[in-house]
Amino acid sequence: MIADIENIRTYWNLRPCNIRHSRLPVGTVAYFDEVERRKYFVEPHIPSFADFSRWNGKKVLEIGCGIGTEAVNFARAGADYTGLDLSEVSLDIARTRFRVFGLNGQLIQCNAEYLLDAVGPDSFDLVYSFGVLHHIPCPERVVDGIRKVIRADGELRVMLYARNSWKSIMIDEGFDQPEAQSGCPLARTYTPESAAALLQGFRMTSMQQDHIFPYVPEKYVHHEYEKQPWFAAMPDEVFRALERRLGWHLLIKAMPV
Ligand SMILES: C[S@@+](CC[C@H](N)C(=O)[O-])C[C@H]1O[C@@H](n2cnc3c(N)ncnc32)[C@H](O)[C@@H]1O
Repeated sequence: MIADIENIRTYWNLRPCNIRHSRLPVGTVAYFDEVERRKYFVEPHIPSFADFSRWNGKKVLEIGCGIGTEAVNFARAGADYTGLDLSEVSLDIARTRFRVFGLNGQLIQCNAEYLLDAVGPDSFDLVYSFGVLHHIPCPERVVDGIRKVIRADGELRVMLYARNSWKSIMIDEGFDQPEAQSGCPLARTYTPESAAALLQGFRMTSMQQDHIFPYVPEKYVHHEYEKQPWFAAMPDEVFRALERRLGWHLLIKAMPV
């Protein structure tokens, strides 16, 4: 598939991220609660990376909010929240999510390559983007926009896929694919150096690796959590060490320079 923006939008509209984390009717409180439980069970590093409570009373911009799992947690923590996404289907679900939980937030449909047009020059305390920039044809343009909307003393928190990872090795060897869902039109990976080159105009304050997906995919899609035998045989502390060295998620915190 050609990775132009229309194909990318179509892809995410057909498969909003994590939409199948619950089999309950989409849009109910029980559905959203289960989506959140499953997401933070499979990706337990997210709440500490986002550090929701830190942003109480602060202006938060999320780029690529998807169906809004982090969005509602920023809003619950008292942030003045703005989220944007290319996929109107994802945003409709995120809007329903804010409504059913009685939360306030601004949700905007746009291509993040045109960030400044969508949110205007503003002064966000946090710009947060988890698993999004590597799916965008010109992420440099997004970073350029972020520089224009973030406060001088603001913080950027971003997750990029890691080149030096278990998952990349499995993809290279033909055992895996770039996304859990097949057919993703564009998914790049980054080394620490290429991530630093992307984040021009920012000074990285921390970079960590985390997250190896340990489950048998065929069982996982049926909500069964059976580990691959090679991970099941590993002591937890060995698996955690592997995640820190070869995790798929490059977790970056940075400040404008
Ligand atoms: C892997 S999902 C991550 C969603 C969310 N951050 C999460 O962790 O659940 C990637 C998201 O990026 C959005 N996206 C892709 N390209 C985009 C673009 N050019 N502008 C804004 N959002 C985009 C997709 O619609 C999708 O919701």
